[in-house]
Amino acid sequence: MFLMSHDKILTFFAHFIEKELGIIYAEHNYFQLKNRLEEIAKLKGIETIERLYEEAQKGIQGAFKQLLLDIATNNETSFFRDPKVFKAIEALILAEYQKKSPFGARLNIWSAAASTGQESVSTAILIKEFASKMGVNINFGITATDISERVLTRARKGSYSQLEVQRGLPAPLLIKYFKKDENDTWQVVPEIKNCIQFRTQNLKESLSFPEPFDLILCRNVLIYQNVEGKKEILNRITKTLAPGAFLIMGSGESLLGLSNDYESVSSEGAVIYRKKMPSLDKKAA
Ligand SMILES: C[S@@+](CC[C@H](N)C(=O)[O-])C[C@H]1O[C@@H](n2cnc3c(N)ncnc32)[C@H](O)[C@@H]1O
Repeated sequence: MFLMSHDKILTFFAHFIEKELGIIYAEHNYFQLKNRLEEIAKLKGIETIERLYEEAQKGIQGAFKQLLLDIATNNETSFFRDPKVFKAIEALILAEYQKKSPFGARLNIWSAAASTGQESVSTAILIKEFASKMGVNINFGITATDISERVLTRARKGSYSQLEVQRGLPAPLLIKYFKKDENDTWQVVPEIKNCIQFRTQNLKESLSFPEPFDLILCRNVLIYQNVEGKKEILNRITKTLAPGAFLIMGSGESLLGLSNDYESVSSEGAVIYRKKMPSLDKKAA
């Protein structure tokens, strides 16, 4: 049997991951890639990564593809991650929505790299709390997407460990919006769960949503892309956002040099981006 060098095998899988996800595996991280490929081989009952490579030559699809995409992604998340962002959503976006739409136009939100769902659950809780504080009803829906089926399966369950709920969730909100089950895990209540729809979406692929969004959370996902990848994804995301609507990036991320379609707005110590209105010149053209 012809044996390929490990380097060639690792380069092959690194290229596949880059093509599908835009995530670049630097050569100095190949040892990590090798460890992860060995884990996949074990899961598939295959002895070596040479055999895994041979298997890949028949085509990488279905569960095999998901396993490969999973090993390349970092799914770190927590409830109310970067709390000032949630304060800014309340102070700026919800307050403005309430003034502009007293009769309850639907607020359409997208959590674009949802991971295990904490971001969308936090947003839904924030809106429910704001509505009850203001004594109003807010009609909203959250679409939460991720490339990884594994994290979405967890997100759809709406079930979180003690450790997970301790990360960022204030106790009164835990008691109000979660129920502890017989396995000592915390279940999101239907009132919140029913506001969120989870679905698979690779941000590198074309996007299709029925309505423009009023708010997109695209946090801590573009960091893994090169500049061209970031621009390409931002361009696509921007088209799904209503004029004057909001985009939120991760706390260490910025649109500087990536897009001219937004103006930045500071609120509660967070920077959020607002899609510019089409200029009159463009409208007339
Ligand atoms: C670090 S988590 C961020 C979760 C959440 N937005 C937050 O900030 O807490 C990044 C998520 O992006 C997803 N992801 C990575 N590349 C993606 C792509 N090309 N399309 C869609 N999701 C992607 C990963 O699967 C992972 O769940």
